Amino acid sequence: MRHLIDIMDLSTTEIDDMIRVAKDIIAEPAKYSHICSGKKLATLFFEPSTRTRLSFEAAMYELGGNVLGFSEAQSSSAAKGESVADTIRTVGAYADIIAMRHPKEGAPVVASAKSTVPVINAGDGGHNHPTQTLTDLLTISREKGRLNNMTVGLCGDLKFGRTVHSLITAMSRYENVRFVLISPDELRIPEYLKYEVMVKKGLDFIETTDLEGAMPELDILYMTRVQRERFFNEQDYLRLKDSYILTPDKLTNAKEDLSILHPLPRVNEISVAVDDDPRARYFEQVRNGKFIRMALILKLLEDAK
Ligand code: NCD
Repeated sequence: MRHLIDIMDLSTTEIDDMIRVAKDIIAEPAKYSHICSGKKLATLFFEPSTRTRLSFEAAMYELGGNVLGFSEAQSSSAAKGESVADTIRTVGAYADIIAMRHPKEGAPVVASAKSTVPVINAGDGGHNHPTQTLTDLLTISREKGRLNNMTVGLCGDLKFGRTVHSLITAMSRYENVRFVLISPDELRIPEYLKYEVMVKKGLDFIETTDLEGAMPELDILYMTRVQRERFFNEQDYLRLKDSYILTPDKLTNAKEDLSILHPLPRVNEISVAVDDDPRARYFEQVRNGKFIRMALILKLLEDAK
């Protein structure tokens, strides 16, 4: 059984194929509108979500399939103490594919080991978020026409931001991608990522605290929210939450064809005044999330046949 737990579960060829399918869906949606008729997607969200859950659900509806699930742990038997493994076995009796979000790192791996249907990790704690990365890759591919030869700035909470971890891992496989990692000292990328992925593969990267200094060289600026729910201490969160606020004046030295991305939700880190700048692409990124998840559902259901 094929699952998507970590972005490395997919080869670059498979990712490229999915991006191609997503672009075809965008061009000719009617071709795909009945393809999953009779199939069910379960969305099991043990943690809050707007875009990820609703884009999965919209994706399945647009493929002609149906959706069931829950959007908070409290409304499932997890509240009575049921294990993730038992929940997954149960849902596998009702659904053909499962998208699951959980606050505990590793919960989707445990779930997939017990599952009779494909499991998709829709975010596990501060660890990984492979379907956001597929969304980001589709967005970068549509904006730039390529996934190689570029400088990618990632800014904000690089320590707890799971979207950052999966995106760096994914982009480490494309040629000549340079990373500029912009964060306060306390929120730098985890050591395991730095050494096991970046240093080991000989990637070109720098760590800095200076967003404006880095701006002129960036092709992509990926802003992130400081992940309040992962902090042990509220005081630390309050001190760090507004470390970076992107405003129009900070973009004066940016490239004309910069793409500004953000997985959203945004709190303070991008001023709403930036939304009108043609380089702000985060709401387009939101739209791409549905199309790439349609391509992913199709692929995993096909592989499960
Ligand atoms: C992200 C997440 O859940 O990790 N959101 C998303 O899925 N689009 C980012 C975040 O919550 O900050």
